[in-house]
Amino acid sequence: ALFPLAARPLTGVRVLLTAGPTREPLDPVRFLGNRSSGRMGFALAEALETLGARVTLIAGPTALPAPRVAERIDVETALEMHSAVMARAADCDLFVATAAVADYRPVEPAENKIKKNADALTLHLVRNPDILAEVAARPSPPFTVGFAAETDRVEEYARDKLTRKGLNMIAANHVGGERGGFERAENALTVIWRNGQRELPMMDKTRLARELAALIAERYQEHHA
Ligand code: CTP
Ligand code: CA
Repeated sequence: ALFPLAARPLTGVRVLLTAGPTREPLDPVRFLGNRSSGRMGFALAEALETLGARVTLIAGPTALPAPRVAERIDVETALEMHSAVMARAADCDLFVATAAVADYRPVEPAENKIKKNADALTLHLVRNPDILAEVAARPSPPFTVGFAAETDRVEEYARDKLTRKGLNMIAANHVGGERGGFERAENALTVIWRNGQRELPMMDKTRLARELAALIAERYQEHHA
């Protein structure tokens, strides 16, 4: 075999992983979006697959080459991502939410292209369901891993999300700075769980994904020990 069994600690583990941004339509030609490239999520999906997992990737729109994973489902909106995840949540052992899901969507997209008649335009938005929180709140939830992209008070906000959403782990990163985060090739993460924490320093996203996958595998095994 290419890998000894010990190097494949997630053999037989069914992973569901969300990645990329979502797009929330305003009208047939416009949407609200965000700066997520999907790179970290795709790299993590591949890294988990390399550790033996069977990964189902639920991907928002990205410009990335197809990752080597067992299955891929493409979605566009937060509601589509929500349905794709909920339909499969009962049949996974590990759920990893890397997607930058839009928190709000236009109440109802306009049927026709919005014309620039007025001097100002007010958008009416409604909140999207929290996919990760909903998966974590299921009766027998999978092992859940979330991400937290923050511009400030990174650790405090991440710890709060870990507790509030009832997650097993959260990977926090600082965005909006000079290095790392959205639209960058590099990133650094602070990974937090109930009784521990580890710093993964600034490095290339592919390497960072491998380190994070190994840490997830370690915590997952510990949880099931
Ligand atoms: N998430 C999700 N569904 C949403 C919003 C977020 O699954 N509707 C997931 C993300 O994939 C990420 C985690 O929740 O793993 C945290 O996302 P983040 O945007 O940092 O947190 P929010 O709870 O949306 O809080 P806020 O944006 O106010 O910081
Ligand atoms: Ca959010």
